Amino acid sequence: GEVQHHEFVIQEVPVKRLCKTRSIATVNGQFPGPTIEARNGDTLIITVINQAKYNVTLHWHGIRQFRTAWADGPEFITQCPIRPGGSYTYRFTIRGQEGTLWWHAHSSWLRATVYGALIIRPKEDSSYPFVKPKKEFSVILGEWWDQNPMEVVRAATITGASPDISDAFTVNGQPGDLYNCSSEETTTFPVNPGELNLFRFINAALNAELFVSIAGHTMTVVAADASYTNPFPTSVLILAPGQTTDVLVAMDQPPSRYYIAARAYATANGVPFDNTTATAVVEYDCGCHSGLGQPPAPPVFPALPAFNDTAAAAAFSCSIKSPKPVKLPAPVDEGLFFTVGLGLLDCEPDRVCGGPNGSRFSASINNVSFVLPTTHSILQAHRLTVPGVFTSDFPAAPPVKFDFTGDNVGRELWQPEQGTKVYRLKYGSVVELVLQGTSIFAAENHPIHLHGYNFFILAEGIGNFDPARDTAKFNQVDPPLRNTVGVPARGWAAIRFVADNPGVWLLHCHLDVHITWGLAMVFLVEDGAGQLQSLEPAPVDLPLC
Ligand code: C2O
Repeated sequence: GEVQHHEFVIQEVPVKRLCKTRSIATVNGQFPGPTIEARNGDTLIITVINQAKYNVTLHWHGIRQFRTAWADGPEFITQCPIRPGGSYTYRFTIRGQEGTLWWHAHSSWLRATVYGALIIRPKEDSSYPFVKPKKEFSVILGEWWDQNPMEVVRAATITGASPDISDAFTVNGQPGDLYNCSSEETTTFPVNPGELNLFRFINAALNAELFVSIAGHTMTVVAADASYTNPFPTSVLILAPGQTTDVLVAMDQPPSRYYIAARAYATANGVPFDNTTATAVVEYDCGCHSGLGQPPAPPVFPALPAFNDTAAAAAFSCSIKSPKPVKLPAPVDEGLFFTVGLGLLDCEPDRVCGGPNGSRFSASINNVSFVLPTTHSILQAHRLTVPGVFTSDFPAAPPVKFDFTGDNVGRELWQPEQGTKVYRLKYGSVVELVLQGTSIFAAENHPIHLHGYNFFILAEGIGNFDPARDTAKFNQVDPPLRNTVGVPARGWAAIRFVADNPGVWLLHCHLDVHITWGLAMVFLVEDGAGQLQSLEPAPVDLPLC
């Protein structure tokens, strides 16, 4: 492959959205940030220069990072943040991955504005496993706040209450013409009649799963999370934060203007959510909206499912399959069962808290609420054998078996323990992980993302996972390979992967509000006796805490 060099300068620039101007953190002054276009096999060398007032790290979401965990990016997991005035160079090679990924800041809520597409095309001598599209478009769905999102999360962290919901969703940084002061800048995708085009959808929103649709057009799904899929037609996509979906679309409708519309999929009763709708326009070049002095006809609006249409969401996720039968890794060496969900913490005596009944919101996996270290990243601490940064006692199962999807559970189960706990995986072991949503406070979907890996999604279901009944539902033939799985509200998902990538890998809910509350844990995959033998040496410019 080729070696690509990029310079990413983190800088604040004024941006006007929803009638208001505020300063936002960007890469190179661009919002969304620059698109990286690469080929499978390329090496990327990206120097990040931090000229903003925030600590920052960048994460290359979905990149496997074989032996280069140092370049993965989550703050305090694989590196300390790049301080204002500092810099760090990420170096990694794309190995065996093709499709759409993305990059984003992995520091507090900075990714609200610091993100961009990472497109990986086949090697020079290879091609797509589908008809070559005429045009390719990146469609990055985002979320916008009138206030600085770093202040939104700061305020919520102080009070322990739920952070303010966003004020808009965006398509390539623009809310679109259903919002005030936004119609002039609505994102437009120019197309020609008869073309077959590829649209690469990315959900970069912080806290919302999104339904998205293109009026009048059928989409054929050909890839998800940079793995090809068995193509299938659909009129609507559902993307959890972190997920990507590539679709082919034939421009076979009467030449006109058609909306792409995106809005939240929200399942938790009584939990406020942003129920606005972002739009962009697919505009046929037909000579039909210029020259005649007539204003263009308003675009055609798509039908979107209701905000709580669980059946539509489940039907879509279950349609995603690998293109060919896969060789499912077996037998299972590590059978893990993780509960994922919300909880509450008592307010400290000297504080006033804004969560339910004067508590603070929290979230946990197996009743452990993850706390980021502060003195070293976990990877640095492991490499330098610094004690006291993390412990290796993350539990393989919750402390007790209970009615996970029931609402009434004992205090010990909704009041998690806090800690920086890792789970050690033997290099090469086959891991099966059942992710069980809990309903302790508000049953919500949890898009669970694993760094450093793709995993097969064997099945998902509603209710309490029951091995006797539910393992029979596992797709052992053509399960999809992804890096983020939407664990359904009041339900579960089962995944399997081989721990073949040494390093320190974060598993977390990709709703930023939940990772803020501690819905995360870390896998430590060692090769060699208690070591990360085949990892490349730490880069000399690795930021220290
Ligand atoms: Cu896309 Cu840990 O993140």
